[in-house]
Amino acid sequence: MANVNLTINGIAVSVPTGTTILDAAKSAGVRIPTLCAYEGMGPHASCRLCIVNVAGDEKEKLACAVKVAEGMEVTTDSETLFEKRKATLTEMFRQHKVDCHHCARVGGSRIEDLDPWFCENCFYCDCQRDGFCELQALAREFGISQLPFEPQQHDFAEDCSTDVILRDPNKCVKCRRCVDVCKNTQAVGVLGMVKTEAGQTVGVAAATLAESACIRCGRCVDVCPTGAVYLKEHKDELPYYAHARDVKTAALVDESVLPELSKLYGGEVTLSGLSGALRKIGVDAVYDAEEVRTVIASEVAQKLSKRRKKAPAILAMDPAAKKFLEANFADRKADFLFPETAQVRFAELVKGKFDKIYRLSGKNALADEVHSTGCADYFYNARELYRVLKRTGANPLRAIPAELDTLGVAAEKTAYEPVLSSVCWQVGGEAEAVSLDVNGKEVRAMICRNPSQVKKALETDCTVIRVNA
Ligand code: SF4
Ligand code: SF4
Ligand code: SF4
Ligand code: FES
Repeated sequence: MANVNLTINGIAVSVPTGTTILDAAKSAGVRIPTLCAYEGMGPHASCRLCIVNVAGDEKEKLACAVKVAEGMEVTTDSETLFEKRKATLTEMFRQHKVDCHHCARVGGSRIEDLDPWFCENCFYCDCQRDGFCELQALAREFGISQLPFEPQQHDFAEDCSTDVILRDPNKCVKCRRCVDVCKNTQAVGVLGMVKTEAGQTVGVAAATLAESACIRCGRCVDVCPTGAVYLKEHKDELPYYAHARDVKTAALVDESVLPELSKLYGGEVTLSGLSGALRKIGVDAVYDAEEVRTVIASEVAQKLSKRRKKAPAILAMDPAAKKFLEANFADRKADFLFPETAQVRFAELVKGKFDKIYRLSGKNALADEVHSTGCADYFYNARELYRVLKRTGANPLRAIPAELDTLGVAAEKTAYEPVLSSVCWQVGGEAEAVSLDVNGKEVRAMICRNPSQVKKALETDCTVIRVNA
């Protein structure tokens, strides 16, 4: 593909045709403020924070939506651009329900009265995104500490219908990331602009999430830049029961919780570091979910080896993928292979040994199963865990690393491992063809992430279709 040459703030840049100004700027190390943009999605072109000047054009351009052109001279920073972005950002707070910074300890509600360090380390505020909210971070960056108007908050009803994924449209900035991920990546499409009595907002066309076809994958939670969609929080339950001497507690941890936790802490969090931090607050035992998963994977591998049917086996390990397949491919039910999850098997393996089980994972899709089956008592993703640990003072980067406990059940990995391991979800991920060597025989597998990929995979001569959600 031919390259396009342009300058960004005077820096010469050469990028492939079709690149947006935003991505070209990134490649040159130039940061443009954004709120609705998200890697691998869009453009949503809704927040207008990414405005830039292009020489010869009077009107500002949206860097996330406009593609580069030969000879373009782009300016991303000026006093006027700063003031315009600040005005846009300020306006976002006109109808925003701000319940961060209303700190119970300090008793103040004016941002400038509070010490930012204190706010970042307190976490007593109501909003689940406090401390790592993209809107809040931008407000700090642009020095918005007091609003020049009386906020006129909408009174949108909160959606707590699922008891797992909660929505508060009063904190929505209409970036449409959730709409995009739900429709285009998860192929579910239950979110969109909706008209309510309180006005227009991003919401669920059905009355509530519970009444919709939502598969509880939690991807909307991952991509939302604010506290408008979040997992039900249990910030008190972990330290409370872990501290109690007469309550025996265990945590089942997935490695998938580590990347985001590392990002939040600004350093590499390891399983043993996390185990040390959890033990510091009193958790009695910490197990690696991988040990349980190897047992399940080996059972699945045996079933796959014995399978003589010509049609590919459709394999799903996580609950959201199972729901998704049941809803979209009911006619292939006979080919479904749905093993139980590591958290359900773990509950069976440790039955009666612990009073409280905490499930820590980067996969929000597991939260619904925790809630509906009771296989664990509380689910924590990286963000929730971060808030909990911050409040207790236990830091996985500084805690004395502690060995993880073992159930002594680990199984050998099999030739099917590449399709049985927990393949991480990516925004807009492509289907992946994998060739396995099973006892000298080639077995072809497809790893899919949405219905159109599964449909295409069914047309190939693969033996296994693994579906992630
Ligand atoms: S969404 Fe962000 S700005 Fe709004 S209350 Fe929550 S942390 Fe504060
Ligand atoms: S949890 Fe998944 S399916 Fe449900 S609304 Fe969010 S992205 Fe869509
Ligand atoms: S709910 Fe979150 S992700 Fe969805 S439009 Fe609102 S702010 Fe954006
Ligand atoms: S990032 Fe371009 S309009 Fe939001």
